[in-house]
Amino acid sequence: MAKVLFEVTEDHLETGLRGYPVGYCDTSYVDPQKGLFYCGYPVSELASTSPEEAIYLLYHGKKGEKKDVQQFFTQLQKKGELHCDVIRAIRQLPRRAHPMKLFSSALLIAGMLEGKGDYQEDCLHIIAKIPEIAATVINHHAGWPAGKKSNPSIGYMENFVAMLGIPNTNLAELTPILKLFNILHFDHGGGNLSAFVGKAVSSGLEDMYGSLASAMCALSGPRHGKANQDALELVKQVEEQLHGKINGDNVEKIIRKKLEDQELIYGFGHAVLRVEDPRATAFYTLAEKSYSSHPLVQVALLMRERCTKVLKENPKIHSPYPNVDAISGTVLSVGGFPHPQYYTILFGLARVVGIAIQIVYERCFARNGKGTPIYRPKYIYKERENNGK
Ligand code: MLT
Repeated sequence: MAKVLFEVTEDHLETGLRGYPVGYCDTSYVDPQKGLFYCGYPVSELASTSPEEAIYLLYHGKKGEKKDVQQFFTQLQKKGELHCDVIRAIRQLPRRAHPMKLFSSALLIAGMLEGKGDYQEDCLHIIAKIPEIAATVINHHAGWPAGKKSNPSIGYMENFVAMLGIPNTNLAELTPILKLFNILHFDHGGGNLSAFVGKAVSSGLEDMYGSLASAMCALSGPRHGKANQDALELVKQVEEQLHGKINGDNVEKIIRKKLEDQELIYGFGHAVLRVEDPRATAFYTLAEKSYSSHPLVQVALLMRERCTKVLKENPKIHSPYPNVDAISGTVLSVGGFPHPQYYTILFGLARVVGIAIQIVYERCFARNGKGTPIYRPKYIYKERENNGK
């Protein structure tokens, strides 16, 4: 008799599949009390490594020696150059849409022009090419000049930062922030919306690029990847309303009023976590160390304490703690990237790595190499209350 993992009752219907076990994920998991682990290693420990080391770990399932990581990235560099037709096509995309629409479209374009139709090969190509895809989309959308030509040998995120044409920014200060952001966002278990969507779409045998484009559409919603943009807007609003009187009690008053007015407190709560998100902790630590005198950081730190306090008073809220979005946008903004409309792309730039590796598992290794069948959950027919009239 197979082990019972989960009992489904009527109360589980219309909960967004919350907590349903669906399959296996061999890259990462999220422990409600301890947070995110990549292949068994807590993300707090990996935060001080490099994006290259974290990618190596997620791809191979084990840590690599320095020389192994270097060799892997030398191989990737050979796959990294984006075809000029892809760049040209991205530059034709309309600039008035949200940048995430362009990002998803850019993945489709790259697939049309460069896809190999092989999940494993395309996964490696995507990991190699995504920094240039993201930089090209951002520069085009923002109307910034193209930065330096892609040169992956300077480092995975160093290359991304150098390709950005971002004006008036100290790139040396921004680079470590983006490296941390990248490491913390590569993966978040198998069931987050974008990973789930990417795997679901690939289960119909859509190719890697199309599956990732769908995953990025899923990421772009304010309840998922766009929350980092919205959370920064919230911190800015609170800071403005404080009129320079930054203290905990004033922050608490504003938060209570927002809740009374049924406004969303972006950046707080999580579907799985029941403690402060360790990814948020890593960013709070950086913010306290490097930017503690900045008013936005002061407000974000006070919100960390006061939003949690106020949300805890509501017994219906199981997760009153900050998640990564509560602080990541503030750190990006004060650290030299004050362009919130691109924060979800920065999230996507990292997350496609984890999703692509998860898709390879589901398509090529699950069920002894047969792959998972096409996703087909059951919906229960319900007659309309007004009988359709
Ligand atoms: C994520 O990083 O994907 C978010 O925290 C959402 C989630 O895990 O459901």
